Amino acid sequence: MKKISLALLLCFAFITASADEGMWLPNLIGSRIKDMRQKGFRLSAEDIYSINQASMKDAVVLFGSGCTGEYISEEGLLLTNHHCGYGSIQKLSSVEHDYLTYGFWAMSRGEELPVPGLTVRRLVRMEDVTARIEAGEDSEKIIAEVEGGYFASVQPMYYGNQYFLFVYEVFRDVRLVGTPPSSIGKFGGDTDNWIWPRHTGDFSIFRVYADKDNKPADYSKDNKPYRPARHFAISTKGVKEGDFTMIYGFPGNTQEYVISDAVEYVAEVSDPMKIALRTERLDIISAAQEQSPAIRIQYAAKHASIANAWKKWQGEVLGIKRLGTVDKKRAYENEFAEWAADKEEYAHLLDSMKAAYNEVREWYYMGELYAETGKTIELGGIANVMYAAKHRRHENIADNFRKLYVNYNADIDRALAKAVLKGFERYCPAEKFPVALREEINKYGGTIDAYVDYVFDNSNATSFEKAEAATKEQLEADPARRLFEIFTFDKKMYRNLSNAPEIERWYRPYLHALREWDQQRAFYPDANLTLRVAYGSIAGYQYADGEYHNPVSTLDGIIEKDNPAIYDYNIPQVLRDIYARKDYGRWGENINGRYTVPVAFIATNHTSGGNSGSPVINGKGELIGINFDRTWLSTMSDIEFDPTICRNISVDIRYVMFVIDRVGGASYLFDEMKLK
Ligand code: ARG
Ligand code: GLU
Repeated sequence: MKKISLALLLCFAFITASADEGMWLPNLIGSRIKDMRQKGFRLSAEDIYSINQASMKDAVVLFGSGCTGEYISEEGLLLTNHHCGYGSIQKLSSVEHDYLTYGFWAMSRGEELPVPGLTVRRLVRMEDVTARIEAGEDSEKIIAEVEGGYFASVQPMYYGNQYFLFVYEVFRDVRLVGTPPSSIGKFGGDTDNWIWPRHTGDFSIFRVYADKDNKPADYSKDNKPYRPARHFAISTKGVKEGDFTMIYGFPGNTQEYVISDAVEYVAEVSDPMKIALRTERLDIISAAQEQSPAIRIQYAAKHASIANAWKKWQGEVLGIKRLGTVDKKRAYENEFAEWAADKEEYAHLLDSMKAAYNEVREWYYMGELYAETGKTIELGGIANVMYAAKHRRHENIADNFRKLYVNYNADIDRALAKAVLKGFERYCPAEKFPVALREEINKYGGTIDAYVDYVFDNSNATSFEKAEAATKEQLEADPARRLFEIFTFDKKMYRNLSNAPEIERWYRPYLHALREWDQQRAFYPDANLTLRVAYGSIAGYQYADGEYHNPVSTLDGIIEKDNPAIYDYNIPQVLRDIYARKDYGRWGENINGRYTVPVAFIATNHTSGGNSGSPVINGKGELIGINFDRTWLSTMSDIEFDPTICRNISVDIRYVMFVIDRVGGASYLFDEMKLK
């Protein structure tokens, strides 16, 4: 009796949890459309995804290698986040043209700046190929059949219970059209990252170009703006709590179905180790940045990327503990085991999975430890690249390798190397400490500090000039390259521990069994950087006892945070002037009795890394915002989504328009948009 009620309770827990949880495959969205329409969506499944006619999917792209973007005009104008465009903006910047600091606005098509190497990918179609894979067909063969010069890949869902073919059109001529200064696009910096309330104008604008037939082409001045089959109209009507929201984009990695062992590994072993190691690196970098404004700029992107996951993991550990995810999963597994006990094909599953975790955990842990320590020593990687360059060409190292040194500082790298090698020693089981590393340390100084000094004093890779002057043999024997090789791990690192093949093979029957057993649960495949739909509504949440967080932030909050003495909160003067004059044009609005400009909002959509830049769409299919983050209490949602507190953060499209218009003076861009 007691067991039955526990099972019911658990089922109930998962039913409620499925409220706004889920990242759905667009070609199967039909199964959700009734629920979506009940929540305020007014369009059809065919409007979201269709292979017969233009649909919303044609307006969404994978931007670069890990963000989302969306078309907002029939002439290829594309929106994404500022932090997604950051690398491109940095690449195009120089001391004379510092677009990160001052922003950039093309005032005509001719002024748009090509970004070499940047691509965007449009999903042409997706197709269930499970039957073919199960009949033994090779995925390479299925891919090879795809015609039309498209890029294709076959991706497993539910750990290989289903397979889909994805066919993409990859555009290679992408140009920067506009970006606000970082003081708007990155406002709040790492301080506000993963935090609500938020006031970041996290957007940048690009344009995709194609050949005369509207097909992808390398950059050419003869290319024409790409004409997408579909683009988003922009809603200027505004949003309020309770409004329907849909996110269409490319989430990268979730693990909602992993067993308790995997969650325990994340919360007790992996995250704490990575957090501690990154804390030391960030302390060293921050101290150097405080000493010199040049270093602050030089290390800004590195600091941001180290800090981003570092901060997320901290929230994730707290979230997993707060939700009691490990215990909940354990109880769920016990219920499952009882059901499975008399089914021959499932009875052994959990034991096999646990055994596989025990087997794989050790080398996976070492892989993670390598990645957070020895692998982060930049000099090793640089020495290796320089050696390879010389080896291939038998002569001089091409000038473009100079760029490896643009944001490189050997003194900081040396200090970091000492810290991470000591960290490595601390976290590495004694019997796993690489013999080769111990030998190098003993031979060259005896201590880690002395050894690192030896490496940096004797390496030929600490500057481009030195590397260029060195012989191939010298670079091959370079002490930094030897160090790099010691940290070259022979096991492939997988998306996460559960994706190691030794474990993943058990997840396939496990997911199959779960779907048979737990029929109340709404299953969706884990994120894997394929196109997904998430939907929910604009909603505040109970942040703490007695502390409710409203779902909308405004320009007034920016002004409250504004502080010229704090880098992250020092807004451009033009924004202060606009505020002083209340010169908001058509973007001003009364919110809670104040004439202001809306800036950001939160909603209940289930999102993950990769959803940055995703369109936030209202019930009519119009653009109301650009997704860019989650709140602090949501950071565990890659493992367990809690609908009462999980919120994604988006920049309000009206703030984007306001900045283009009032700050950028580029309102000419509105001519090609559909403002509603
Ligand atoms: N947290 C967001 C994401 O995961 C934004 C990161 C960029 N912003 C930053 N301050 N580092 O990517
Ligand atoms: N900021 C993340 C990204 O760059 C998206 C937000 C998230 O992880 O929720 O993809």
